[in-house]
Amino acid sequence: MVHKYEQVAASIRESIARSLSPHDALASERELMAIHGVSRMTVRKAISVLVEEGRVYNVHGSGTFVGSADIFSKTPKLTSFTEDMISRGSTPSSRVLELTRIAAPDQVASALGLAPSSEVTKIRRLRLADDTPIALEEVYLPTTVLPTESLNLGSSLYEQLRVAGYEVFRAEQEIMAISLSADDSHLLDVAEGSAALSVTRVSSSRRGQLIEFARTTYRADRYTFQLAVTRDDK
Ligand code: GLP
Repeated sequence: MVHKYEQVAASIRESIARSLSPHDALASERELMAIHGVSRMTVRKAISVLVEEGRVYNVHGSGTFVGSADIFSKTPKLTSFTEDMISRGSTPSSRVLELTRIAAPDQVASALGLAPSSEVTKIRRLRLADDTPIALEEVYLPTTVLPTESLNLGSSLYEQLRVAGYEVFRAEQEIMAISLSADDSHLLDVAEGSAALSVTRVSSSRRGQLIEFARTTYRADRYTFQLAVTRDDK
């Protein structure tokens, strides 16, 4: 038996394919109830199926929108340092090294699509897991995303961004092997010149707003990257 919610989901899938573009709004819950002659619960169930498929996404208080094509592609999971450490069974913590408001350096302004010298917040933190230094983070955020004064650097930056309406959804990353400088070796508590992984991340919201430019330096003896890869269907 085909459930009613599956029929509604199929019909929404069709109308997306026929007449909607990424980020267009779907009809409201009430309209969908009237169009399909079903209850609110059935509409919600249908939408949740489509959310799971990555075809649509909800924005709290504004409705449901059509997802963009890249949401379908399988990419490794995007996590914050906090989530990353918790999933590895460790307790994360931070030591703040710097918090300043500055004119964006050229590389940061161009990565974040900002006018030259726009104001950004620069954050440098030493990140630890079970009190062992793991990474050094240098993060730049446009001050329009989160005001410098409102930041609480003892806790997760991504959680604060999410609460402010800028959930980090996608990131372009570049991973490079480096040798640590004397200062960074000291902070990470390893021998001078030790190997490290430098990860440059440019993060964006679900709506494609550029949110963060970050350079995170991970101790190579304490951190690995795991990527799941799949062969394309021929
Ligand atoms: C990782 C990312 C950074 C990001 C940070 C946020 O370290 N490489 O780009 O800023 O996570 O972590 P949290 O939310 O724990 O502050």
